[in-house]
Amino acid sequence: MNAPREKFSSRLGFVLATAGSAVGIGNLVGFPVNAAKSGGGAFLLVYLVFVFFVCLPVLMAELAMGRHTRSNPVGAYSQISQHQQFWRLTGILKIITPFMIGVFYMVITVWLFGYLVMSLSGQLEYLASPDSFDSYINSPYIFVAMLLVGAMVFLILNSGVQRGIERAAKVLMPSLFIMLLVLVIFVLSLDNAIAGARFFLVPDMTKLNAGVINNALSQAFFSLSLGMGILITYGSYLDKRDNIVKAGSMVALADTTVAFIAGLMILPAVFYFNPQVNTDELSDSSVSLIFVLLPNIFLTLQDTIGYFGAHVVATVFFLLVFFAAITSLVSIIEVPVAYLIDEKNIHRKRALKLLAIIGGALVVMSALSFGLLTTFTEFMTYAGQSKSFFDVIVDVFYDTILPLNGLMVCLFVSFRWKHHHLSQELRLGNNSYAGSWLEKYMSFSLSSFIPVILLLIFCNTVAQKFFAYSLLGF
Ligand code: PHE
Repeated sequence: MNAPREKFSSRLGFVLATAGSAVGIGNLVGFPVNAAKSGGGAFLLVYLVFVFFVCLPVLMAELAMGRHTRSNPVGAYSQISQHQQFWRLTGILKIITPFMIGVFYMVITVWLFGYLVMSLSGQLEYLASPDSFDSYINSPYIFVAMLLVGAMVFLILNSGVQRGIERAAKVLMPSLFIMLLVLVIFVLSLDNAIAGARFFLVPDMTKLNAGVINNALSQAFFSLSLGMGILITYGSYLDKRDNIVKAGSMVALADTTVAFIAGLMILPAVFYFNPQVNTDELSDSSVSLIFVLLPNIFLTLQDTIGYFGAHVVATVFFLLVFFAAITSLVSIIEVPVAYLIDEKNIHRKRALKLLAIIGGALVVMSALSFGLLTTFTEFMTYAGQSKSFFDVIVDVFYDTILPLNGLMVCLFVSFRWKHHHLSQELRLGNNSYAGSWLEKYMSFSLSSFIPVILLLIFCNTVAQKFFAYSLLGF
């Protein structure tokens, strides 16, 4: 007999834990970088449309699948499809995806850890110089940090996630939110910051192209932790009396608000530090933008709160961002862990050790991709560009497979599980769902334009990323 499945202690607990998974590097680093490189306001607009009209229905469908089957993604797909091989394989893709995304996520979390330690030890000036990021990520310290972060993730996952995560998220998420708000107010008071705010908020539709649309969609999927089985897994811990529509919408809103605020902090800061910035130059932005910019924002704070104060603020900030990254990382790796435990009958500790060995090797290979070892730095060439091992993981799993997994959710729910079953599940705990406009929107959109959009973007991403050819023609 299996023990009864764990449950979240309250809806707030669920929302905060799921938001803890959703809010992470994607919101605080990925979103502002993508907004900078994909045209500011035009990107924001497309992103918001995707979140509320395309991603939210997928998010609710994933939660419903999880709660209905009380199972991990492979279990959920095979239970509902009565063990059809094709759908089981789809479930397995949803185990491999988070595992591979966990690899690149770990690399960035390790960088953040280094920034935390360096601000704690008073090295903001060093961090603020443009070359430090490159030299730090190629230094031997990175491997020490990797071991420490790896050990933390291992310990958290080994001692059962639900309660620990739920409790930590209740304190950390609201603190991060308040701290971000204070920093936004500070940044907006700087010279020329308003030009950055305008770039971020006012859409310039001439910037819109297929690349911007691809970026907005991958970013929205990643940020909401969609297409990776996380929501199926978290949904399996929900009570039948919980209202999935309400809880799901709150998660999407919280996640989007944090990303929005992070954008409102970073883009104005870019314009403050570089008033002559040419918005076309920004299209080359990468994560290093954030890693160089943040220490500079904190150093600027010195004039107001002194050297010591600036270091305290920087340390607390990096600590919160690091926690946001760890809560996400843990939730990503919990998916393959839960799969090995549920489906392969492996003990939690053994499952973790197995994943640590394979994942550890991949993380090391990724960390060597930034110049340390040519084999990994120039790992492959496609579409006329040389790609590192790290780039390949991002291109394949983040940009390509995520939307594909979303497409499979739509097809599965619409044509295998069927809408009336989805509706039945969503009606539980929500008396007003039956006959509502949302119910109609869900069944219409999930079986029509959402899969079409996801399919188009998937094909276009493959053509563009791997063959340098734009199907959408712009
Ligand atoms: N959504 C998280 C972020 O934005 C990352 C994540 C992806 C977490 C997938 C869990 C699953 O950083």
